[in-house]
Amino acid sequence: MNIGTQTAMTTPFSSKGAEPIDPIFRQIRDLVYKVCGIFQLEEKLYLMADACGRRMKQLAVRTPREYWDLLTVHTNREAELRQLLNEVTIGETCLFRSPPQLDALRKVILPELVQDKSKQVVKRLRIWSAGCSTGEESYTLAMNMMEESDRLLKGWTVEILATDLNDRSVETAKAGIYGDYALRATTDYFKRKYFSPIDEKKLQIRPEVKKLITFSRLNLQDDSRMLFMKGMDLIFCCNVLIYFDGPSKAKVIDHYYSNLNFGGYFFLGTSESLFKLNDKFHLVHFPGTIAYWKPSLKSGKL
Ligand SMILES: C[S@@+](CC[C@H](N)C(=O)[O-])C[C@H]1O[C@@H](n2cnc3c(N)ncnc32)[C@H](O)[C@@H]1O
Repeated sequence: MNIGTQTAMTTPFSSKGAEPIDPIFRQIRDLVYKVCGIFQLEEKLYLMADACGRRMKQLAVRTPREYWDLLTVHTNREAELRQLLNEVTIGETCLFRSPPQLDALRKVILPELVQDKSKQVVKRLRIWSAGCSTGEESYTLAMNMMEESDRLLKGWTVEILATDLNDRSVETAKAGIYGDYALRATTDYFKRKYFSPIDEKKLQIRPEVKKLITFSRLNLQDDSRMLFMKGMDLIFCCNVLIYFDGPSKAKVIDHYYSNLNFGGYFFLGTSESLFKLNDKFHLVHFPGTIAYWKPSLKSGKL
């Protein structure tokens, strides 16, 4: 694919290394950043060029300039931007990705939340899997909640909201069909109890697990949507903010803080932290993992 027209020494090169990258891809990179917070460094500009190249090929668009017009002036520009975002996002995930988080959740956090909320008339827990990719994280949470349904969560309703920017991933999540790669960390116990075989290679999550979850497309940088996500007891936003730069991360984290109930917990991926991003949350250590706690009014630690 020929994606280069400029030859200045400082121009980054395409993934094939030989051709300089057209500066239009830098404009597209900046547009993507403004829309969804995903930031690609100059040396990774070839990734944007590759993503656009795939769309251009599908649309039989010949030049980067023509593609820029499709993204910015064409009547169908919003739909095309969505398609491009689907190409740009990275959805690496699996079921039971972080066992220490699940241990912390079931051994410490759930008992604490249940105790804190036990005097409320409606016994309900609301969990948000933000950046859920193809659904593995949300189903993992749902299965673990179901494991507690006859004990700790007897009489409680659990609602899981699972959202992602990538609408193809959201559709895959809704189907809930997984192969060996996604299931590599899932024990036979969970496979037998919560999945049905589709064929020799694939398992589908059972309807009773799906019932706990509502999947939808949501852009974490869309402030107007983020304002309507209040009342969460737990937020999992694992391995998502790594794709954002500092200001986009800080903005999303502020939303999480105001969307969490007092006494609620927020989890990031194992390699992520809120260091220098937000000092309102309290850092809590658990074996093998950390979480962030929004101090409850009665804790006196506000
Ligand atoms: C690596 S996956 C993480 C999946 C899962 N949370 C986990 O830890 O296994 C990152 C996900 O973040 C999503 N994402 C990236 N930018 C986003 C944004 N602005 N709004 C919503 N989701 C976004 C991507 O589409 C992708 O599915």
